[in-house]
Amino acid sequence: MKKFFLAPSILSADFARLGEDTQKAIDAGGDLIHFDVMDNHYVPNLTMGPMILEALRNYNIKVPIDVHLMVKPVDNLIPQFAKAGATFITFHPEATQHIERTLQLIKEHGCKAGLAFNPATPLNFLDYVLEKLDLILLMSVNPGFGNQAFLPSTLNKLREVRKIIDSNCLDILLEVDGGIKLDNIAEIAFSGANIFVIGTGLFKHSNYDLIIEKIRKELQHAYSKFIH
Ligand code: DX5
Ligand code: ZN
Repeated sequence: MKKFFLAPSILSADFARLGEDTQKAIDAGGDLIHFDVMDNHYVPNLTMGPMILEALRNYNIKVPIDVHLMVKPVDNLIPQFAKAGATFITFHPEATQHIERTLQLIKEHGCKAGLAFNPATPLNFLDYVLEKLDLILLMSVNPGFGNQAFLPSTLNKLREVRKIIDSNCLDILLEVDGGIKLDNIAEIAFSGANIFVIGTGLFKHSNYDLIIEKIRKELQHAYSKFIH
């Protein structure tokens, strides 16, 4: 059975009560936690480092943590995030000098490796490294902020990547990040994604259980389209 994974992005959580709010998103049905790292250099915003990730692990957050590095350079931070408890580490190919070396570094530190594509980043960065990836992340907004509108051009790109993964019979997770809401998630699923990052679409609602229940219904609808 095709499985969809929800990844609450804690960029939009209540930072003053981060552990509690993260746990609440998991209890409501979040499968993994999306952890946005911004450096005010690669993107014009500043967020969280490895100490915050470690604090979440110490708070007993047990689900996989999906670290999305929007930083340049990349490599120095990899051992620190791995040690802090990252499960996936994903970076942007333009942000590192040596893509293959960065991928190796992530694996050497025991994490799963992902490559992230901005809306205008071409897919040819997948060439030669495809088989080394555990995850491909497609940005559906320009990186740096939550609550931006989903860029519809992502859907074609998404279908393209789905085709590449399936035609090579690879087991790579395909994640979409930015502007995912109740009214577009089914279409995104139908276009080939299986991990959905949800920031404001979850955390800005007062009842997380209710919104995740509605999202699951939308995904079920997409799934029934897949099998017919
Ligand atoms: C944006 C981040 C996203 C962000 C998505 O640069 O990578 O993960 O949290 O937020 P929403 O879901 O509000 O668009
Ligand atoms: Zn992100």
